[in-house]
Amino acid sequence: MTEIILSADGEVRLSAGDLAGKGEAILATRGAGKSWLAAVQAEQLIEAGYPILILDVVGEYWSLKAKYPVIVFGGQHADVPLDPHIGGEIAKAVLDRKLQAVVDLTGMRRADQPFFIADLAAELYEYGLQVKTPCWLLIEEAQNFIPQVGNPPCKRPILDIVEMGRHAGLGVCLVSHRSATIDKTALGLCDILVFKRLTLPHDLQVVRDFFRGRDPKFVDVVKELPALGNDEAILYYPLRLEAPVKFKVAERKTPHVAETPTLKIKEVAAPEISAVSRELTEYFQRFIREKVVRRDEVAELRARLEELQRELEEKDRRIEQLEHDLELAQRFRIEVPPELLKVPGVNEKLEKLEERIMDLYAAQVEKAKRLEEENRALKRQLEMAGKADFSALAEKLEALNREMQRSRDPLASLSESLSSAVEKASK
Ligand SMILES: Nc1ncnc2c1ncn2[C@@H]1O[C@H](COP(=O)(O)OP(=O)(O)O)[C@@H](O)[C@H]1O
Ligand SMILES: [Mg+2]
Repeated sequence: MTEIILSADGEVRLSAGDLAGKGEAILATRGAGKSWLAAVQAEQLIEAGYPILILDVVGEYWSLKAKYPVIVFGGQHADVPLDPHIGGEIAKAVLDRKLQAVVDLTGMRRADQPFFIADLAAELYEYGLQVKTPCWLLIEEAQNFIPQVGNPPCKRPILDIVEMGRHAGLGVCLVSHRSATIDKTALGLCDILVFKRLTLPHDLQVVRDFFRGRDPKFVDVVKELPALGNDEAILYYPLRLEAPVKFKVAERKTPHVAETPTLKIKEVAAPEISAVSRELTEYFQRFIREKVVRRDEVAELRARLEELQRELEEKDRRIEQLEHDLELAQRFRIEVPPELLKVPGVNEKLEKLEERIMDLYAAQVEKAKRLEEENRALKRQLEMAGKADFSALAEKLEALNREMQRSRDPLASLSESLSSAVEKASK
């Protein structure tokens, strides 16, 4: 079984199988060497041939390319462009093709990230259960995606992996600089914990509570945390180790770019990588064109249809109102005594009333015509989109149109009766 060496002296090791099947958390304050240690693990898992998937919010893991055939999705060093809709598809590609992939989230809107990760994590788990390909998922700034308070859409799918990932051969490494705000259920489910320097009282309290709940005899580990150097860590792995072990972290084999962000790594020369990334780029572009754009179009049509339906319902109410007015007006006409028609000014008033009714009538006809046209166009579009489940809505639209048609006739007769009244009055 391939061993992953964590310590500089080579003594502290984990098996690759342990990592790619268990939950691990690396907890430390900012700048205490979390990403360095996570990258040390990533490098060796890559060497052991394990598929890995790194969710990188800072844009630092692309430097793995300096030595390894890693595919980078998104960010400034992308092999394949990233899109918020392809999370699930990336997970599938990683498992199917046994990729070692970095997803650089620096270019993705913060608001899109939880949805993207939800899709990715859910697919990694669901599809992982089918194919049982081992894979290691690294989640940086995990407190953003599985917070103690709040429920972003990615929280449940990530917790599923922490809790049950081993059934799919999935290991997950949660990296967090805020122990206080990361979900405690997730921490409780982790088998492997690595503590590095922690200084904030709230974060230290979390570690204290953790040991009190799990292994009270080791609660004094907390006292060592504030003074740890960047290259020091304490591993707590009760399934394999009798006690927590403090160690100096091994060197990285690829550059740590957090240190020197301007560092340029010359493109990986391996021709197979550029072939794979070209092929993946084409694949994802096709996927976006065929699935994502299509999905958006159908959603747009659906929204438009709903808007039209609301408009028609509004029209329906207006028609009812008009019919009511019409009835009143007809009653009024019957009751108008002929002498009244001779009163000066009534003539003009009746003319004005007729004009208003004619305007309403014309507007009604115009609107009905437009709605009918839109209705037809919409039906054509829906047919083209291959969606049959709109037929009930379409019937409703037609019924409303017929209703509108009927309302034109009373309007026309009212207008006629008014004009005959006007004629009489002017004689
Ligand atoms: N094992 C190590 N050996 C030497 N220097 C380290 C080690 N780990 C971290 N460092 C130094 O600490 C800095 C911060 O490390 P990093 O892993 O980026 O921290 P974090 O991810 O916790 O914010 C790095 O730029 C590096 O200079
Ligand atoms: Mg970091």
